[in-house]
Order: sequence, then structure tokens, then C-alpha cells
Amino acid sequence: MDKRILIIGSLNMDIVIEMKRMPLIGETVLGKNLTYVPGGKGANQAYAAGKLRGKVTMLGCVGDDSLGQKLKENLAKSGTDVSYIKNIEGKPTGTAVIYVNDDGDNSIVVISGANEACDVEYLKQNETLFAENDYVMFQMEIPYETIFYGIRKASELGKTVILNPAPAPDSLPEDIWEKIDYLTPNETELLKLTGQQEMTMHNIRNGARWLIDKGVKNVLVTLGDKGVLFVNDTEEKLFPARKVTAVDTTAAGDCFNGAFITGLAEEMSFEEAIMFANLASSLAVTRKGAQSSIPGREELDELSNMKINAGL
Ligand code: RIB
Repeated sequence: MDKRILIIGSLNMDIVIEMKRMPLIGETVLGKNLTYVPGGKGANQAYAAGKLRGKVTMLGCVGDDSLGQKLKENLAKSGTDVSYIKNIEGKPTGTAVIYVNDDGDNSIVVISGANEACDVEYLKQNETLFAENDYVMFQMEIPYETIFYGIRKASELGKTVILNPAPAPDSLPEDIWEKIDYLTPNETELLKLTGQQEMTMHNIRNGARWLIDKGVKNVLVTLGDKGVLFVNDTEEKLFPARKVTAVDTTAAGDCFNGAFITGLAEEMSFEEAIMFANLASSLAVTRKGAQSSIPGREELDELSNMKINAGL
């Protein structure tokens, strides 16, 4: 039987502005289009897990406003249990302003709003969920003390802990490293976490190994079109990405994380789960927006079968 997934994190309404190229400091450019799309790293990961048929529950906070209501409604459509998401009176729902250029690259500014109210007390009120779920995943758009409390609690109960360190902090408390079963930074986040400057494959490998030495059990560095580098105590392996033309990379990492945890919950091996997640995010980058870009299970299975039939 598939295991259960708990995702604890942020929900944002994304205000997406498409433009030919990003403005320089002090410059004005004309945008092409502005859309509102459901997002937030936590909600995107839950949405991906739900759409891929994971049994997923989300913990997070929205404002007592129409944006919050829309975010919950959209997330529920993926099959995610949204009944524990809290409405915070007097706080606006989190928002993110996202610039996307013609190459599909993005820059994001998050205004946390109600996500800031996702506190330790709220996790304590929902403590039974820790016992009821098998995999617990966090990102870093809610207060750090909540994340660290959640990681300690999940680990104490013997749950599998996944931390997507996005946005990346400078470091983590010393006792946290060894409680993480899977740490999933992208290359920029990995460099920040490991105090390195230059983006080279050598530094990325060294950084991943440094994290393993700190006590993290498995590190998966998402490298965009170069794929995913997997490192643990005994292995190091690069899983190449499927070649596609990217339209918008927003939430590609979230889609990867949501798909990866779903794969693990279905008891795929970690290699299979990485390939499943790679395939999911390769579809996400070919579409615009955050949750709007995430593929469903049938589509993914079809693509997977096509690859198998083609001997890839
Ligand atoms: O990872 C993409 C997400 O980051 C966006 O949906 C935005 O809300 C920010 O949280």
C-alpha cells in the first residue's frame, strides 16, 4: 500500500510578469503579460504529489481573504487534503512577484504574509499528522523555528525527512543535518549552504560531499538541464535530464520534489524515484506558471512508456 505524505510549507499567489528580458537596476522595461497563478513552494510540491496520485496532506497558512480561498480550492483539485490549512485573520495571503524572460528564466520576490504565521504552535496543534504520515517534506518559506521543530519531531518518530532548502539559508543548526534523509538543493542553494562562491561541477561535488560529512543521508542536487547529482556515503551518480525546450522554469524544482516524494511513497527505489521526478520536471518547464505547469500521472506514465518502448 502506498505510504502517506505530509508537506509543510508556504502557499503564495504568484503574480507572473512576462518580459523579453529582466530590467537592469534603474531601468524600466515593458512587460508582455501579467497573470495570477497559484504557487508557493510548499503548495507546488503538494500539488505535484497530489496530481501524481500521492496520498498527500498539506500544513500551511493563508490569509482570511479571497486569494487564500482560491489557493486552497486549486490545491484541493490535485487531491491534496487541504483541511488542516489554517486561515489567519488580519494577515494577507502570501504573494510572489515573478519575472519570466523569453529564455524561460525567472526572478522571484516573495511577500510572506500569512506564511509567517505558520508557527510551532500550529504544528503542535496538528501533531497527530506526524504520526499518521510516513514521509515529511519541508522547504524554507515559513519560519525557520517551525521547520526545525517539524524536522526534529518527524525524525524522532522515525519518519523519512526531506528538506528542500529553498530559499537557501546560510546554514542549519548542527543537530538538524543528521535528521535529514534527503536534502534537495539546486546548484545555487548548494553553494550558499556550503559557503562556496564559484559555480563549478568540482565545487558542487565537494559541497554535496561536505553535506554528507555533516550527517545528511542523501543529497540530490538539481542542476536544471544538466540533470540531478545524487550523492550519499557510498555512491555518486549523475542522472541526466530529458532534453526539452524550456518555456518557464518556475516550480520545476517543486515539481521534482513532489514527484520524488511520491515515487518514494510508492516504494520506488531512489533511482527510479529520481528518474520519475526528472521526467515530471522536464514536462513542467515546457509550460507556463507554477501549479499550472505540473503534469498529471497519466501524462507522465504515457511519456515513461514511450521512453521504455523507444529503448531510452
Ligand atoms: O518555486 C517557485 C515558487 O517560489 C513560486 O510559486 C513562488 O510562489 C515562490 O514560492
